[in-house]
Amino acid sequence: MRILSGIQPTGQFHLGNYLGALKHWLKFQDRDNECFYTIVDLHALTTVHDARTLRQNIRESKIAMLSIGLNPEKSTLFAQSQVHAHTQLGWIFTTLTPLGELERMTQYKEKAKQALKNNGVNAGLLTYPTLMAADILLYNPDYVPVGEDQKQHLELTRNIAEKFNKTYGQIFKIPNPMIYKETARIMSLQDPAKKMSKSLGPQHYIGLFEDESSIRDKIKKAVTDSEKEIKYDPKNKPAISNLLAIYSGVTDKPIKDLEKELEGKSYADLKSSLADAVVAHIAPIQQKYAEFTANFSFVERAFETGAEKARTETEKVMELVSQKIGLE
Ligand code: AMP
Ligand code: TRP
Repeated sequence: MRILSGIQPTGQFHLGNYLGALKHWLKFQDRDNECFYTIVDLHALTTVHDARTLRQNIRESKIAMLSIGLNPEKSTLFAQSQVHAHTQLGWIFTTLTPLGELERMTQYKEKAKQALKNNGVNAGLLTYPTLMAADILLYNPDYVPVGEDQKQHLELTRNIAEKFNKTYGQIFKIPNPMIYKETARIMSLQDPAKKMSKSLGPQHYIGLFEDESSIRDKIKKAVTDSEKEIKYDPKNKPAISNLLAIYSGVTDKPIKDLEKELEGKSYADLKSSLADAVVAHIAPIQQKYAEFTANFSFVERAFETGAEKARTETEKVMELVSQKIGLE
């Protein structure tokens, strides 16, 4: 199977990005798949306009990808901006996509609301999904693993592929989303109604590269639910269910098993076991992070090799696209 996915370079990833996206990427590379994983730095430009911050975030994201165990010899790793065909095809897709489809995207509506309070809404926020469709369709993947929040963009990608194929002739395979249920949405530690995200504030998330004492402290202070039973029930027990989802994510144990293990235990017990499990799971990742930071030229080479492979792949597709749409 061919797999493609992308992640924004937000720099230091948190457990939401990791359990909801990155960790799943690993599973595919160890089975006989062809994997393409990209850091979508051009997408980041819709919200980051400071060159130093962006450069730093891209570097940290590259190091993080290798630290969690993505192997450049097994997977094709690259940054979106290293492969120019993404913007080329993205533009072509904007000309096929009805404005209304873009305006009704939930992520656009949310980000536009935030942007209105700051520098205003740039057009890139609106056309974000057409660039994402290009990221995907250029590689004709069978599956695109993403978090629940990206499902709508995947549906739009499928519509764009169908529209292109119908208008110009069959080129693109219709990709399937692959959404993970239990860890699809890791919620904030302080407000389990909201997705874990850095923008909510430091107490709401756990950084993948945060130090142990701070991780333990944040878990200790995480909100809980009423009653005492440790049970996975996102509707009635959103906070405890979230802690169980994180627990399951870092131990690879099914939630059902964890519920059994924790039967009769208190919320404090749950938190203390969870903290141990999180720390144990991410210690080796943090160790690798330090090593790759010290050897950044290795990281750069890995991404350059990946980009070279990706360019070769996309050139063939772009030739065909140009021919079909009448650019040559
Ligand atoms: P972002 O940093 O928001 O661009 O997200 C990168 C990837 O991580 C996307 O595939 C998201 O769906 C996923 N992701 C981000 N936050 C969470 C979260 N709290 N829970 C699960 N997945 C998340
Ligand atoms: N929009 C995705 C996010 O916010 C990132 C992304 C961009 C992506 N291009 C992609 C994900 C292609 C999967 C495939 O998380």
